[in-house]
Amino acid sequence: MEGKASLLDNMIGVGDMVLLEPLSEDSFLENLKKRFDHNEIYTYIGSVVISVNPYRSLPIYTPEKVEEYRNRNFYELSPHIYALADEAYRSLRDQDKDQCILITGESGAGKTEASKLVMSYVAAVCGKGQEVNKVKEQLLQSNPVLEAFGNAKTVRNDNSSRFGKYMDIEFDFKGDPLGGVISNYLLEKSRVVKQPRGERNFHVFYQLLSGASDETLKKLKLDRDVSKYNYLCLDSASVSGVDDAANFRTVRNAMQIVGFMEDEVQSVLQLVAAVLKLGNIEFKPESRSNGLDESRVKDKNDLKEMCELLGIEQSVLERAFSYRTVEAKSEKVSTTLNVAQAYYARDALAKNLYSRLFSWMVTRINGSIKAQAKTRHKVMGVLDIYGFEIFEDNSFEQFIINYCNEKLQQIFIELTLREEQEEYIREGIEWTNIEYFNNAVICDLMENNQNGILAMLDEECLRPGTVTDETFLDKLNTICAEHQHFESRLSKNSKFLTDHSLPHNCFRIQHYAGKVLYRVEGFVDKNNDLLYRDLSQAMYKANHNLIKQLFPEGSPAKINLKRPPTAGFQFKASVGTLMRNLQTKNPNYIRCIKPNDKKASHIFTESLVCHQVRYLGLMENVRVRRAGYAFRQAYEACLERYKMLCKKTWPHWKGPARQGVEVLMADLKVPPEEYSYGRSKIFIRNPRTLFFLEERRRQCLQDLAALIQKIYRGWKCRRQFLLMKKSQVVVAAWYRRYAQEKKYKKIKHATTVMQSYARGWQARKLLRQLKHQKRIWPDAALPLCKHSALSARRELRRLKEEARRKHAVAVIWAYWQGLKVRREYRKFFRANAGRKIYNFTVQRIIQKYFLNLRKNLPSMSPIDKSWPTRPYSFLDGVHTELRRIFHLWRCKKYRSQFTEEKKAVYEEKLEASELFKDKKALYPSSVSQSFKGDYLEINKNPKYQKLHSAVDEKVLLADTISKINRANGKGTPRIFLLTKKSVVLADQKTGQVKASVPLLDLASVSVSKQSDGFFALKLKEGSASAVKGDFLLSSERLIEIITKLYRLSAANAERVPLSVDISDEFLVQFKNDKVCVKFIQGSPRNGNSASCKRKNNRLLEVSVPSTP
Ligand SMILES: Nc1ncnc2c1ncn2[C@@H]1O[C@H](COP(=O)(O)OP(=O)(O)OP(=O)(O)O)[C@@H](O)[C@H]1O
Ligand SMILES: [Mg+2]
Repeated sequence: MEGKASLLDNMIGVGDMVLLEPLSEDSFLENLKKRFDHNEIYTYIGSVVISVNPYRSLPIYTPEKVEEYRNRNFYELSPHIYALADEAYRSLRDQDKDQCILITGESGAGKTEASKLVMSYVAAVCGKGQEVNKVKEQLLQSNPVLEAFGNAKTVRNDNSSRFGKYMDIEFDFKGDPLGGVISNYLLEKSRVVKQPRGERNFHVFYQLLSGASDETLKKLKLDRDVSKYNYLCLDSASVSGVDDAANFRTVRNAMQIVGFMEDEVQSVLQLVAAVLKLGNIEFKPESRSNGLDESRVKDKNDLKEMCELLGIEQSVLERAFSYRTVEAKSEKVSTTLNVAQAYYARDALAKNLYSRLFSWMVTRINGSIKAQAKTRHKVMGVLDIYGFEIFEDNSFEQFIINYCNEKLQQIFIELTLREEQEEYIREGIEWTNIEYFNNAVICDLMENNQNGILAMLDEECLRPGTVTDETFLDKLNTICAEHQHFESRLSKNSKFLTDHSLPHNCFRIQHYAGKVLYRVEGFVDKNNDLLYRDLSQAMYKANHNLIKQLFPEGSPAKINLKRPPTAGFQFKASVGTLMRNLQTKNPNYIRCIKPNDKKASHIFTESLVCHQVRYLGLMENVRVRRAGYAFRQAYEACLERYKMLCKKTWPHWKGPARQGVEVLMADLKVPPEEYSYGRSKIFIRNPRTLFFLEERRRQCLQDLAALIQKIYRGWKCRRQFLLMKKSQVVVAAWYRRYAQEKKYKKIKHATTVMQSYARGWQARKLLRQLKHQKRIWPDAALPLCKHSALSARRELRRLKEEARRKHAVAVIWAYWQGLKVRREYRKFFRANAGRKIYNFTVQRIIQKYFLNLRKNLPSMSPIDKSWPTRPYSFLDGVHTELRRIFHLWRCKKYRSQFTEEKKAVYEEKLEASELFKDKKALYPSSVSQSFKGDYLEINKNPKYQKLHSAVDEKVLLADTISKINRANGKGTPRIFLLTKKSVVLADQKTGQVKASVPLLDLASVSVSKQSDGFFALKLKEGSASAVKGDFLLSSERLIEIITKLYRLSAANAERVPLSVDISDEFLVQFKNDKVCVKFIQGSPRNGNSASCKRKNNRLLEVSVPSTP
């Protein structure tokens, strides 16, 4: 099996971890490091791609690379994310399987980059065209827009996605993109109002301030100075290597491409500016007479500008910041807000404003990129969701993010590890179980509807009475205390009572990726995600289209006292939908790994990578793959795909698919250790084998295409040629006719001219003569004139006759010419064709005759007389001859089955037929009787013991017969024994030997022509036995007895064969007398058996009943 450049050739380390030898965690890491050091950031585990973030741009994403990986097999080239994208795309396009690309890894591992690479690859290789290009461009440009609004710099990643994104790209049947649908998951909105140290707010704020023109900023009432905004943290306003101003232009451009109208862009920017302004509104306390704390806006300038931006009445918003109205049924109660509450309300508004704006943008983009055609779509989903997060201070957001990652790990386990092992068992493939950690138990801890943490939180949030984060923790401590992955200081589980790393207001979960400590502070609040109704109503009153749309619950028509679903509930529901969606698609995994914590290139921190390798379960993944098979496919699909590689399976295999695959693999000489047969699938161990099959298929397809091309071209040219030939014959015929006609007309014309000249000349001559004669003999002129007139008429007649003859000649000549031409050309067409058609027809008839004959052959029984009827009389001779040959052949076949004994029996039968057939009437009745020989079982029957011992030869025939008394013709029963050498007659009762005649003394046997059993054994004159005379005997088995006697005599080379005389009258020597035995036809009245009577001294008459 040779291949071209492959994943397995010239590799740095090994390209597929499945081939790693020996396999250990150390060798795994060493291989990853070695490859990373050589800029090989991608490595496979079977079909899973591991991607190590290089933190610098590598020249491996060029258009040339795209071309290199396009339409190539997954294992053909060195590992690359393009190979995975190509595989997924081709599988979607050619096999009609919906795909999903699951990109996982921790924050900063390169998920978002990977998702963009996949999308750009697919965009580069799929179809082209104005409409398609527009769709592609819109899909790609949605990325910078969403990144500006949803990504931010964190300590782990300068472009960290702070929302989850799942994008379904939809394709038509040709594989051209039609559009897409984006789903977003829980934006980390707390970042809008507060960012941890060293991190930034969402990119768009900085991009707007540094990239917008002065004029725009003025319109938005903003100042370029970042430090003027409370919501923008100062210590990392700019990120090295990031040009916010340039990015702003990119985003604006992208928004335009995606389809945002200019007024929509302005509205979005106004909202962004409003959020910044909102952050600058500050409150001061003001005491009221009733002792309640009240807050007032400190500097109303920002408030005023914000209200102007959004078209809100300042007093309305100001009031909403100072009062809170609680509505219960028909009652309305207004309470004042203190300063802290006012700040809380402000931040809640900012967070809601921003997150709703973000969701609106996703919906808006979806509206633009929605597929127009209503036909069935094929879908490729790309999931780029926030990575697993372990911060110093982890809150509700991290809990939610990590929950999502647990679910993704679960689906990975479901689909790769467990599913793989279960499949081997299902298919009956020999398999040793591999242990792996199943994180279903952690998912259950978080999401169980009865006692999961999210359910507890919801229960707590909806519970009447005082609800705080502490009461929530208490609840967890009682309900989850026993759970092996839940740890809390105050839980009943005494194990943690003294664990100082576990503060009292925290709980810890042992995630699959490590332990994470969650501070409960803010859980209840964030889960409730409440926005005071006064604020949403104030927003709804705004004279701003977009704001109105974002706060529909503020509409007085929609007052709804029911609490909205909690953030946790919503998230859980959307994650559930996502998981169900992913399970319906064919998964493709990209497992991203972060090589170091410094965002630095060339640094590979082994401990960090080791941790990720462990929690991503990559070692188990390799082990399962190694123990298993690289590739599997249902027999039907496999046969369909590769059947052209074997003559026996191409073009159709009639038996079961599995047998077809077995024949195929045997024919291709694939070593048996390379594959196994499961119940419904074939399992191929090595990628190389798969590649070998694919390569052969590719070549074969080329050959088949060339064959089809050849036949089509041949057909086309032949058709063209025949058409031209036909036209040429028509043209030539017409031309020849035309040429001949022209020639004929010319000749005719010339002849006429010559004729007229000649006639003119003759007439003139005659006229001259007449005139002359008239002048000379005026008297003689009249008769002469008459004579001349006569001769002129005669001449005219002659001329006319000649003209007629000439015309006749011309006509005959034309016919003759035509005949000649037709004869000449006939041999090219009809004459030849006739013979060919005749030959062809005869051939076909004969072929059909033979095929029919083959189908309708009679049975193999030699006595079967049937034979198909002859279809045509000309086949008469052949038909009879074939019948004869067939009969001879089946007789031969029949004979060849005979055993030696059976053969001897038949030979005897044959002998009998030669002796008696058509000679003796008894013969036909003997045909169906088998010649048993020993009818008395002489050697077994104790009665004949004595007799048996008296005969020393082997008994060939033993039977009871009648010996005819010479005196009266009556029969006496006797035992008749025939041995090789003699005939013995013995007493039937006593077994005493009465006579023993050596065969050599027998001269002949006489029998009648009738159906009787009489026969005379005639003895040689002068022999010792002849003294008593000949024997006249009678037996029903006459035929057998005489045949055996004859055969024995014939086998003896020393003597002439016994003569068998068949006659109705013969002489028998009784002592000294010769008696004539005569057979006459008796009436059936005498009974069925023949009777014998002594008539006189010389005559014994045997009356044989006539056969009806
Ligand atoms: N293939 C790559 N080539 C070059 N640089 C890369 C590559 N992948 C990632 N990076 C670098 O790593 C940074 C982080 O990557 P990315 O934003 O994709 O991480 P992430 O996994 O999406 O993290 P988060 O979960 O925080 O969103 C990128 O901004 C980029 O600088
Ligand atoms: Mg990301």
